[in-house]
Amino acid sequence: MKVIVVKDYEEVSAKAYEIMAELISNKPDCTLGLATGGTPVGLYKKLIEANKAGKLDFSKVQTVNLDEYVGIDYEHPESYHKFMNRNLFDHINIDKANTHVPDGGASDPQVACDEYNKLLASKTIDMQLLGIGGNGHIAFNEPGTPVDSVTHIVHLDERTIKDNARFFNNDMDLVPKSAMTMGIKNIMAAKKVLLLASGANKADAVFNTVEAKPTTKVPASVLQNHPDVTIICDEAAASKLTNK
Ligand code: GLP
Repeated sequence: MKVIVVKDYEEVSAKAYEIMAELISNKPDCTLGLATGGTPVGLYKKLIEANKAGKLDFSKVQTVNLDEYVGIDYEHPESYHKFMNRNLFDHINIDKANTHVPDGGASDPQVACDEYNKLLASKTIDMQLLGIGGNGHIAFNEPGTPVDSVTHIVHLDERTIKDNARFFNNDMDLVPKSAMTMGIKNIMAAKKVLLLASGANKADAVFNTVEAKPTTKVPASVLQNHPDVTIICDEAAASKLTNK
């Protein structure tokens, strides 16, 4: 794992932009694995600015998203479909037919998971972007998720529901209790992984991911077994690392 520690959130976004923009420039038809949550938003803003300035072209880029809530309407502003459109896809020259988010609104979620696995099997993700949950989850793979998991339905941890309540008027009752997520095996199949972490509430998760022994109790720690992982964190998120 390569760990890059920068000053603050703005610098996390700038460094992540540098790395992702280099890939898109070198491989215009790349497949990006994309993430939601607050952390990637700064990076997405930079990708939008670069596209508007004519510096980055998304016309041949394909994307696959990590996860989606189950049990809220597709049109709900906090569905991850809407999140991706609002924070990235609506503002760049990507062909929406080339963007993919699991179908959390499917009448049969298990069939939708199977279809998403088929889609993933037909592609190679050149770079998978990840945030990290306060409990070390990646995508919605909560503690205990097996390493050989593929896209599946999950019941969200109490902590994840609490953490995500800020997107639902701070009302935990409004946060969906389950989701559809790529599994650890799907994530590990990406050629490169770029994980971003910002803020002191991620410090334990970052320490457990980077310096503790890999365990399924901290899903992100399993990334220690991936050959090409870069973690960009700000000083607050890196504050518990002993090796900086
Ligand atoms: C959600 C998403 C994850 C994300 C995590 C952290 O649970 N499913 O993909 O990494 O939130 O979000 P944030 O970046 O807002 O802290």
